Amino acid sequence: MNLLDQIDPSRIPQHVAIIMDGNGRWAEQRGNKRLFGHQNGVNAVRQAVEAAGKSGVKYLTLYAFSTENWSRPQDEVDGLMELLASSIGAEIDTLIQNGIQLRLIGRMQDLPEEVQRKLHLAVERTSQCQALTLVVALNYGARQEIADAARQMVLDCQRGAIGPADISPDTMRRYLYTAQIPDPELMIRTSGERRLSNFLLWQLAYTELHFCPVLWPDFCAADFYRALIDYQHRSRRFGGV
Ligand code: IPE
Ligand code: IPE
Ligand code: MG
Repeated sequence: MNLLDQIDPSRIPQHVAIIMDGNGRWAEQRGNKRLFGHQNGVNAVRQAVEAAGKSGVKYLTLYAFSTENWSRPQDEVDGLMELLASSIGAEIDTLIQNGIQLRLIGRMQDLPEEVQRKLHLAVERTSQCQALTLVVALNYGARQEIADAARQMVLDCQRGAIGPADISPDTMRRYLYTAQIPDPELMIRTSGERRLSNFLLWQLAYTELHFCPVLWPDFCAADFYRALIDYQHRSRRFGGV
């Protein structure tokens, strides 16, 4: 049976988040530099975006660079930044043609200026697109996000816009980078690692987790569909019975 035929179109998650992991190992297995793996990961990004669009997912969040990834060798960090800027720049027209809106979460202000400029242009140019929202987590760390939210809440308390009694999970949510985005129902991590690595700690509270052994550059639409099928076999209880 065709994979797509096994997916129930009435139970497609609205939001899927992916930790794209394993680029370095993929390259090393081929006797190449880690950057070669990142370059080949771009193709897997296309596959994931296409599969998400085809299956009716409305939000796809991709973890592209964590706040901890700055600790990698300088040439890898520089190469990744260049690759991000050039691939997003090159894809703008395709994004628009396919109705894909680009959004960014993370501390953009710490990225190289040229990268920021290209990213903001892509965000602006795709802002009217409606078919799928592609959220790229860049220089993203969930603990930093929660600390940024707490800081802003304290500032708003000081100026009297909110009071301590207003602070609830719902208020908290509005201060996160993902304020306008629903929580993911499904999170996929490739490469066989089973950890969150500082990704969406608040938002993943009730998310179904799918761990996939393939290294990110080998990830394809079929892997995405298999994750959706796995998700549809889960019983989501949210603490109830
Ligand atoms: C994921 O692949 C991409 C980024 C973190 C930017 P890795 O670079 O982490 O690859 P491995 O995990 O070392 O194989
Ligand atoms: C998580 O992967 C970050 C991204 C995919 C961008 P890492 O490879 O950095 O995570 P660890 O080091 O294995 O936890
Ligand atoms: Mg990794």
